[in-house]
Amino acid sequence: MSTDDTTESKCGASKTETSESNCGGSADASTEEKVGATVDDFDADPGSLVAVGLGPGHADGMTRRARAALHEAEHIVGYTTYIDLLPDEITDAADELYDTPMCGEVSRTEEAVDRALAGNHVAIVGSGDPNVYALGGLALEIVESKGATASALDFEVVPGVPAAQSCAARVGAPLVNDTVSISLSDHLTPMPTIESRLHAAAKEGFTITIYNPWSRKRRDNFEKCCEILLEHRDPETPVGIVHGAGREDERVEIVELGDLEALGETDLVDMTTTILVGNEDTYVWDDRMVTPRGYESKYDY
Ligand SMILES: C[S@@+](CC[C@H](N)C(=O)[O-])C[C@H]1O[C@@H](n2cnc3c(N)ncnc32)[C@H](O)[C@@H]1O
Repeated sequence: MSTDDTTESKCGASKTETSESNCGGSADASTEEKVGATVDDFDADPGSLVAVGLGPGHADGMTRRARAALHEAEHIVGYTTYIDLLPDEITDAADELYDTPMCGEVSRTEEAVDRALAGNHVAIVGSGDPNVYALGGLALEIVESKGATASALDFEVVPGVPAAQSCAARVGAPLVNDTVSISLSDHLTPMPTIESRLHAAAKEGFTITIYNPWSRKRRDNFEKCCEILLEHRDPETPVGIVHGAGREDERVEIVELGDLEALGETDLVDMTTTILVGNEDTYVWDDRMVTPRGYESKYDY
C-alpha cells in the first residue's frame, strides 16, 4: 500500500473547511487543470472504474455495496479527508491509495480514470453520494474526453447517503415534502444564478437544503442567502444546522431563520455543515423539526 500524495492544501482553507469545492475561485475564474493522456496512450486492456459514495463519514453509515466495492478495488483515489475516513480494513487491503488535498478535483479524477485505463480496478471516493455535488459526472466527462467509453471501463456509481438525508435525520423529519438543494459555492456556478435559484425555492415553498454554506472567502454568499430566505419566509421559520454529521466533531442545532446569519461567524457553520430550512408548515416539537406531508388534511389521527 502506498500514499502517493500528501502535500498540504494551497487553497486558503479557513475555520475547519474540508470541502473540495472550497477552492477560492469564483465561477468565472479559469482553471489550469487540463486532461492529458487519451485512450490511445494505454496499451493494457482497461480495468474498471467505480465512483463510491461513503455516506456521512462513519463506517456504519457506509452501505454494504460501497464497502464491497472498496474491497474489490486495487486502487482507491480521493480527497485526503475522505481517504482518512475509510476504515483501516479497507485501506490496508488496497494496493495503492492516491489522495490529494482540497481543490484538484479534475486532476484527481483524471488520475483515477488513467489508472483504470492502465488496467487497474479503481474506486474514486467522496462523501455522501457521487451524484450530489460530487465527482460522478466529472468522471464520465473525463472518460468521454479521453476517447474511452464508460462500458469499456465497466463504469459504475455506488450510491451513498447524501448529507441532506444524514443531516435531516439528526434534526427529526424536516425534508418529507418537496425539497430543493442549493450549494452556495460559486466556484462553478455564478452567484447571480445561485441567488435566483434561492429566490425561486424560497418563494415556491420548498424545504431547502443548503450545501457548502460558508467559507471565509464566501461569507457574502451566506449573508445574501440569509437575506433572500428572509424575503420569503418568517424569521421564526425553523432551521436545522448540522455540522460534521456522523463525525467526531458532530454538532446539531435547531434555530430560527432570523438568527441564522449571525451563526455564519461561528464554528457551527463552515464547509462541513449542512443547513435545512423548513417550509411555511415546518414546526419544532420535542426538539425535532417536523414538516407535515399533508396527511393531516386527509386523515384523522
Ligand atoms: C462537495 S459537497 C459533497 C456532497 C456529498 N456528495 C453528499 O452527497 O452529501 C460538500 C458539502 O456537503 C455537505 N456535507 C458533506 N459531509 C457532511 C457531513 N458529514 N455533515 C454535514 N454536512 C456535510 C456540506 O454542506 C459540504 O459543504
